[in-house]
Amino acid sequence: MKVIDVIITKRDGAPLSDEQIDWVVAAYTRGEVADEQMAALAMAILLRGMTPGEIARWTAAMIASGERLDLSTVDRPTVDKHSTGGVGDKITLPLTPLVAACGAAVPQLSGRGLGHTGGTLDKLESIPGFRSRLSTVEFLRQLREVGGAICAAGEGLAPADRKLYALRDVTGTVESIPLIASSIMSKKIAEGTASLVLDVKVGTGAFMKDADRARELAQTMVELGAAHGVRTVALLTDMSTPLGYAVGNAVEVAESVEVLAGGGPPDVVELTLTLAREMLDAAGLPDADPAAALADGRAMDAWRALITAQGGDPDATLPRAAETEVVRSTVDGQVTAVDAYRIGVAAWRLGAGRARKEDPVSAGAGVVLHRRPGDRVSAGDALYELRTDDPGRIDAARAAADGAVVIGATGKTPGPLVLGRIA
Ligand code: URA
Repeated sequence: MKVIDVIITKRDGAPLSDEQIDWVVAAYTRGEVADEQMAALAMAILLRGMTPGEIARWTAAMIASGERLDLSTVDRPTVDKHSTGGVGDKITLPLTPLVAACGAAVPQLSGRGLGHTGGTLDKLESIPGFRSRLSTVEFLRQLREVGGAICAAGEGLAPADRKLYALRDVTGTVESIPLIASSIMSKKIAEGTASLVLDVKVGTGAFMKDADRARELAQTMVELGAAHGVRTVALLTDMSTPLGYAVGNAVEVAESVEVLAGGGPPDVVELTLTLAREMLDAAGLPDADPAAALADGRAMDAWRALITAQGGDPDATLPRAAETEVVRSTVDGQVTAVDAYRIGVAAWRLGAGRARKEDPVSAGAGVVLHRRPGDRVSAGDALYELRTDDPGRIDAARAAADGAVVIGATGKTPGPLVLGRIA
C-alpha cells in the first residue's frame, strides 16, 4: 500500500477502502507514514468529508491502535460523560462524584485545556497534592472503592489519536466532523465504559458555532457509540454564555464545591443535574435521585473521597492570583449577553490556559463574572474581575474581554441551556 494513493483517493473525493483506512492509521501510529503525508490526508478528509462507513472504520482503526481497558472487575454499572469543551465548563467536577454517589462508576479520562477552553485536569491540579496520573490498577481500584476517578488517559489508549490530534492542531484540520467524532469516540470506547453521555456545546465559546453542525457531530458520535456497543446519548447545550461565574482553574474548583455543598450558580446546578439524570438512566439506575444526593451531602462525601484517593487535600486553601482588576459598567441597564469566547480568551491571556501543550498554567488566574444575562446594572457596578499572577497580562486580557458584556435598555430573558437531545 502506498500512502500517496490513499491521499489521492480522498483528494479526488472517492471513499477510502477498509484496507486503506486500517493500513494508513496503523502505519502512521508506527511512524511509517510521515507527518506531512498524514497532514495532507487530514486536509483532504476535512475538505471532502467521509461516509458513515468510513468514519466507523476510521474510529475502529484508532481504537485498534492501542489497548482497550477492561472494566469488568468494577461491580457497578459504568457510565462516562464527555463535553466537547466550553468556557467555565467545570461540570465534570461536581458531576463525577454526584453520579458515583448515586451508585454508578464514572471512569472519567480527561484532558488539559488548549486555546480558550479550559481542561478538567488543569482545574483539579489547582488542589494541593492532586495527582492526575493513575496506573490502571489504581484507576480500577478507585472505580470500585469510590465510584469515580478523574485522570489523564494512559499512553496506550488510542495512540493514533494522540499523534493525529497534535498534528491536526497545527495544520488547520481540527474542525472536521469525521475527525472530531472519531477522535472523541475512539478514546471513550477504548476507555471501556458501558454507556456515555455527550455534552455537545453550541455557541461562540464552543468548537461548533452553529447548531446544525453541532447536531451533525452529535448524531455521528451517537451512531459510533451504538456501533461499538456503548449506549450513547448526546445533549446539545448552549455555550454562548460562560457556565456559572468562574472561568479559570482554582476559581472553577471553588464554584464546583459550592454546587456540591448544595448552592452554586443555577445554570451549573441545572446542567449538572440534567447530565446526571441522563447518565443514571443510561447506566440502568433510573430511580436514583441526584438532586437528593446533592442536597443531603452524599455527593460532597464522594468528592472528598475522590480528591483524597488521588492525593489531594479537599480542605486545603485554593491558590489565589496576586493581582485583581475590576471592570465596571459605565451605563445603567440590563445585561443582555456575556460572550463566552471573549471571556474565555481573557482567562487564557491572564494565564489560566496555554498556547502550546507544554506551557504551564496558573492555578489562580481567571475571570470572575459579577453579572450574568438578565441581571440589572447601574453605572459603576462591577461587571467582572480579571485575576492574574502577572500584572503585565492585564492589558491584553482587558482588550480580549472588551465588549463581552452587552448592556441594553431592555433585557431579553436568557434562552434555554439544553437545546436538543439525540439518542
Ligand atoms: N476533542 C477531541 O478529543 N478530539 C477532537 O478532535 C476535538 C476535540
